Amino acid sequence: MKLSIQSHVSLKPHNTFGMEVQAAQFCRLTDLAQLPALLADSNYQRGPVLWLGGGSNLLLTRDYPGLVVKVELGGIRLLQQDGDSLLVEAAAGENWHQFVRHCLQQGWYGLENLSLIPGTVGACPVQNIGAYGVEVKDHIEQVVCADLTANAATVVLDNADCHFAYRDSIFKHAAAGRLLVTAVRFRLSRQPQLKTAYGDIQQELEHRGITQPSPLDVSNVVMAIRASKLPDPAELGNAGSFFKNPVIAQQQADALLQRFPALPHYPAGPGRVKLAAGWLIDQAGLKGYRQGDAAVHARQALVLVNHGRASGSQMWALARHVQDTVQQRYGVELEAEPLVL
Ligand code: EPU
Repeated sequence: MKLSIQSHVSLKPHNTFGMEVQAAQFCRLTDLAQLPALLADSNYQRGPVLWLGGGSNLLLTRDYPGLVVKVELGGIRLLQQDGDSLLVEAAAGENWHQFVRHCLQQGWYGLENLSLIPGTVGACPVQNIGAYGVEVKDHIEQVVCADLTANAATVVLDNADCHFAYRDSIFKHAAAGRLLVTAVRFRLSRQPQLKTAYGDIQQELEHRGITQPSPLDVSNVVMAIRASKLPDPAELGNAGSFFKNPVIAQQQADALLQRFPALPHYPAGPGRVKLAAGWLIDQAGLKGYRQGDAAVHARQALVLVNHGRASGSQMWALARHVQDTVQQRYGVELEAEPLVL
């Protein structure tokens, strides 16, 4: 398929905050064979270039002055089978949740706790998406990339090469702008190994009277929990958790816990502690706080929502207010999770 580059295209349908901004140029990448032509195109060469998946981890504060490329590469295939162990490859443009459900239908298990996370397969390694006790890095075997600086040559990174960490990877740092994720290879299993220890999952299973859950049950329960707390971007613009849970030194955490014994916290490696940012924001009195149409979600303080007409810069002003308030009250710095442009 020939590449079609359009001018002055609204990005509203392509970002889950629903920001009405325009891209100077816009095109869809539906086939890897289009890449050489794209890299040679004057619009690409002039830059800047924004590679876009589902637009679910993005806050756009102004018109984009360059080329936006929506990655729509499709395809899911079973690459290898070795007893119960499976290697499954999905192309970058596949919708994440549909892929998770497809795996469950096929009897390919492991991703069930990551149900209903917005976005695409190609974005999942970038910020190492995670929920309910599972991070996607636990199931990624390899990430297939196109090297944008070497005529789109294929580069395959092993899990260890990706430098995965909490909501972080090499794709946000050294590989940013150089390696485009084109597909991800997942290590899955025909033998369920359920992770139901996360409080909410256990409670919800009990509530439903399920004592011997299947992977599909876990997926359904995760979907219900998410739907009860997290706003549906189709109804209320948002980008999931707007802030990362901060990781601080044990000493600082001990001092905070003296003052706030109820503060939820989790071990995060030697001498490090992760705090629940949602609790900090909530207890600072900001849950449901609103500046015009930009608001802290009333059911989950970690999520910022657009009630309709908030601009990207208004959302960002609200985010700064939340950061300042938390800094003043607890001495803790909150880092934004989405890319802010
Ligand atoms: N909390 C509050 N008030 C709030 C929100 C949370 O007191 O308004 C408390 C909760 O009661 C709980 C603790 O904070 O004790 C943690 O809350 P929760 O279990 O809801 O998880 P989270 O830390 O808010 C993280 C991820 C989510 C993921 C959930 C479940 C980050 C930044 N967020 O949220 O991921 O779904 O755990 O595993 O790590 C995302 O990244 O976009 C995202 C939604």
